[in-house]
Amino acid sequence: MNKALLLTLLWTTTLLAQPSSGKEVFETYCWGCHHQTAEAFGPPFNEIASKRSKQEIQAYIISPESMYKAFGYRRTAMTQFHLNDQELNLISDYILTFKGKK
Ligand code: HEC
Repeated sequence: MNKALLLTLLWTTTLLAQPSSGKEVFETYCWGCHHQTAEAFGPPFNEIASKRSKQEIQAYIISPESMYKAFGYRRTAMTQFHLNDQELNLISDYILTFKGKK
């Protein structure tokens, strides 16, 4: 295969693999346990947004195991994810958009 074509293909697949919005990250990874404004298995995003900073939210997603005590939980049932920086950024901004929403 021609090198330029191969590079273009690689480039487009990386682009396509990137989520484009926090909503997409939410629907892919979090929706089974969290809802935006309703209590599900985990706390709703509006409640999280009202008491946590962006850094805290990201720290929790990166490692619930090392954060749950500091957040006041007796144990953690949340899955550990390996999101990249962009996904982390998108999802934490998305959560914070629910601040003050009912
Ligand atoms: C398997 C179910 C599950 C999934 C999937 C899940 N969570 Fe959670 N999450 C929980 C539960 C349950 C808690 C309550 C504390 C605990 O058990 O760790 C929680 C707590 C949290 C907290 C801290 C809440 C607080 O007190 O501020 C954040 C932030 C959070 N989740 C974000 C996410 C994000 C973002 C995703 C998707 C990338 C996600 N969670 C996916 C179950 C889940």
